[in-house]
Amino acid sequence: MGSAFSCCGSEKVEEGLTTITTPNNATWRIFTYKELHTATNGFSDDNKLGEGGFGSVYWGRTSDGLQIAVKKLKAMNSKAEMEFAVEVEVLGRVRHKNLLGLRGYCAGTDQRLIVYDYMPNLSLLSHLHGQYAGEVQLDWKRRMKIAIGSAEGILYLHHEVTPHIIHRDIKASNVLLDSDFEPLVADFGFAKLIPEGVSHMTTRVKGTLGYLAPEYAMWGKVSESCDVYSFGILLLEILTGRKPIEKLPGGVKRTITEWAEPLIVKGKFKELVDPKLRGDFDENQLKQAINVAVLCVQSEPEKRPNMKEVVNTLTGYDPRGKVMQTRIETLAYKEELLAFDQTTDDDDRDPGNQELGVFGHTKVQKMRAPYNQFGDQKMH
Ligand SMILES: Nc1ncnc2c1ncn2[C@@H]1O[C@H](COP(=O)(O)OP(=O)(O)OP(=O)(O)O)[C@@H](O)[C@H]1O
Ligand SMILES: [Mg+2]
Repeated sequence: MGSAFSCCGSEKVEEGLTTITTPNNATWRIFTYKELHTATNGFSDDNKLGEGGFGSVYWGRTSDGLQIAVKKLKAMNSKAEMEFAVEVEVLGRVRHKNLLGLRGYCAGTDQRLIVYDYMPNLSLLSHLHGQYAGEVQLDWKRRMKIAIGSAEGILYLHHEVTPHIIHRDIKASNVLLDSDFEPLVADFGFAKLIPEGVSHMTTRVKGTLGYLAPEYAMWGKVSESCDVYSFGILLLEILTGRKPIEKLPGGVKRTITEWAEPLIVKGKFKELVDPKLRGDFDENQLKQAINVAVLCVQSEPEKRPNMKEVVNTLTGYDPRGKVMQTRIETLAYKEELLAFDQTTDDDDRDPGNQELGVFGHTKVQKMRAPYNQFGDQKMH
């Protein structure tokens, strides 16, 4: 593989392609810069799918007709080249129906590009809050499929792939949807590819405001439980159609847990569920899913379930399903922290990764939900 890594900077273009077959027979390959340049019409603005913390993403079509999404990373230094190669190789070996695997990459002296399959239904974010929000293509069945599939993808990262991978940026824009609305979690292990000081994310804490577990936000403590917390927020978002942080009239910002907590405590599940569903949902599944979300967003990481338990409960196999002793705990962001959030009233875009440097001052507030038996809550 050695020679391949110097093949495709914008100045040096080599035509040769290398194809790598991973142990489970999935193939990916090294692309030349020229090939990706042609496929994306010169990385034209018309082909741009969006922009995230690491760079821009472009739609493209290869000469053999494959539709691809090309993530063009912000420039990297040459010292990071080998680290990039090793990491990409690890990610290239990860294959699961709910993970957006690599189709290939291009690494040269001054360019890093990662190639994925193009997902025609774009991201969950675009359906919940973005360009497709008005079309209401996400009925209840699809929402459950997205929640369960995403959980299965994370379970694989945490428990099945070696070495285990902690995603660190589970959020709606990182859940992509194929033509059948099957979810594919994207950008796993990706934060590690970016060396210190290269992107705008220079702090220890990487992630997206609103989804961050308190112990990660405050002390940078990373574990699988951080992903579980973020998944809990994502699940609430799928069920309620609300953003993780929303701006109220008057400028006050409110987290989704702050909004949901009183309704959950009173068992007003029908008021929780996204009104766009027009009441068309399965009540038992809703209760079970809310239950899972509540467990996932607990402040103490050791109290959160692992992803195996999450998947089991969501798919209905959990024997504990009937009796859950828990309480919802809300991370109340301080004002100066919420100032980092770029959400505006009419803003559909994901604020993306943001530099988070003031979490040491974040106040964690514990709120007790006065119920024990989730299964006994009445629907209103
Ligand atoms: N394979 C793909 N198919 C279709 N759309 C994609 C694909 N990959 C990324 N996108 C879209 O491109 C946009 C930019 O993605 P990108 O991952 O760079 O940023 P992000 O997910 O918003 O933030 P982050 O940098 O934290 O991942 C997002 O809207 C994303 O949904
Ligand atoms: Mg992303």
